[in-house]
Amino acid sequence: MKKRNSVFIATSLDGYIADKNGGIDWLHRIPNPNNIDMGYGEFISQIDAIIMGRTTFETVCGFDIDWPYKKQVFVLSNKLNKVPEGFKGKAEIVKGTLTEILNKIYQKGFHRLYIDGGATIQSFLKEDLIDDMVITTIPILLGGGSPLFSELPEELDFACTKSKIYLNKVVQNHFVRMK
Ligand SMILES: NC(=O)c1ccc[n+]([C@@H]2O[C@H](COP(=O)([O-])OP(=O)(O)OC[C@H]3O[C@@H](n4cnc5c(N)ncnc54)[C@H](OP(=O)(O)O)[C@@H]3O)[C@@H](O)[C@H]2O)c1
Repeated sequence: MKKRNSVFIATSLDGYIADKNGGIDWLHRIPNPNNIDMGYGEFISQIDAIIMGRTTFETVCGFDIDWPYKKQVFVLSNKLNKVPEGFKGKAEIVKGTLTEILNKIYQKGFHRLYIDGGATIQSFLKEDLIDDMVITTIPILLGGGSPLFSELPEELDFACTKSKIYLNKVVQNHFVRMK
């Protein structure tokens, strides 16, 4: 199966994925009375497994909800050696270079991967390992926080293949890496 590393994420207008306090409440500030998923269901149906950074994992663990993922979750962490009590069997800690981690995940039969977490996406982009990105922009200027993007060793070209406005306020752009 063709390997693919994909991003599906929401950012503020000024490019942050969490506010200055690490909060993400602003993601839900635009009223969404019918709870439309803005393409998430379709996206996740085409994914085999999720790779997320430790910070994102801990944020999700802190939500007062049932475990939200039906796909295998791999957590990048140098600090954690095992998943916390209560999350055993839900996620697996992975370490090493991204190439080593990806090869290990491919050997387990997962090829279409959802890459999540700011620092994690940035480290994948630094090695030109992201194939496509769906970025939903929430029209708010946070003025600081956790950025989606950071410096890169070289420029990377993407094509915008689709653009859609949701809830009359939120724009979602689909980007594909041009090599
Ligand atoms: N807006 C959205 O849609 C959205 C989506 C996802 C997350 N978020 C939010 O964004 C914030 C998390 O983003 P983040 O940028 O702080 O970090 P992140 O990517 O979730 O986690 C970064 C951590 O992952 C570990 N790591 C291990 N190997 C790594 C590698 N090769 N590259 C990068 N990280 C590696 C490190 O933890 P160790 O110290 O354990 O090594 C690092 O500190 C949270 O507040 C989360 O809630 C928002």
